[in-house]
Amino acid sequence: MAHATFRIWRGRADSAGDFADYQTAVTDGMVVLDAVHQIQADQAPDLACRWNCKAGKCGSCSAEINGRPRLMCMTRLNTLDLAEPVTVEPMRAFPLIKDLVTDVSWNFKVKKGIRRFQPRPPDAPDGTWRMSQRDADRVQEFRKCIECFLCQDVCHVLRDHDKHEEFIGPRFLTYTAALEMHPLDAGDRLGDLKDAHGIGYCNITKCCTKVCPEHIHITDNAIIPLKERVVDRFYDPVTRLLRLFR
Ligand code: SF4
Ligand code: SF4
Ligand code: FES
Repeated sequence: MAHATFRIWRGRADSAGDFADYQTAVTDGMVVLDAVHQIQADQAPDLACRWNCKAGKCGSCSAEINGRPRLMCMTRLNTLDLAEPVTVEPMRAFPLIKDLVTDVSWNFKVKKGIRRFQPRPPDAPDGTWRMSQRDADRVQEFRKCIECFLCQDVCHVLRDHDKHEEFIGPRFLTYTAALEMHPLDAGDRLGDLKDAHGIGYCNITKCCTKVCPEHIHITDNAIIPLKERVVDRFYDPVTRLLRLFR
């Protein structure tokens, strides 16, 4: 039976931590999460990892595999070079709890700071609304998000520049876009985007889009249209002049 080496990060928040190598048997159809579970069962019962669905839908098993943010349960071993050790480490944009588990609670705090869905008054006397299918389809893409936070992990504004207090990150720009572009929503989040939520920090590197397991076009369909709205509102001289007169 074939074997492969997994170089897994071991450590706690309060200790330095290091990689440890584990050899384990690999069979057809295995994913990285299977290998981690096998290592837990046979060699390292105290190895911490977070997972839930093993189907790419809960967003819990996010990690960095060979240096790239990915879901452990959706990374098949036959897509990796098993001649070399496969490195598995925790997301680096969030504080470590233990081994592969990070504290992602900052994201939940950020979400609470975004203005909620605010429906406009109903269109018909029976309390119902009308909207076009095209408008509904537009936001549907953003609703595929599984909150794995891989896009947050790869974004240099959070990861390298640690702007967690000033920038909400690609996941929550996508969430804001889903609200702002919702055909029934009457809320206004453009001022927040410009100031508290730091949309100006994003320089459209598209790294977030590249790692999204749901293939959401984060930059093209969410961030760029939001940036355009912010620019139109706050920086376009003609619009500003018109608003002044209005
Ligand atoms: S496109 Fe913007 S949000 Fe996405 S990774 Fe780059 S800087 Fe971050
Ligand atoms: S937008 Fe994509 S990468 Fe970001 S949290 Fe949602 S599913 Fe994960
Ligand atoms: S275990 Fe649910 S996404 Fe991987």
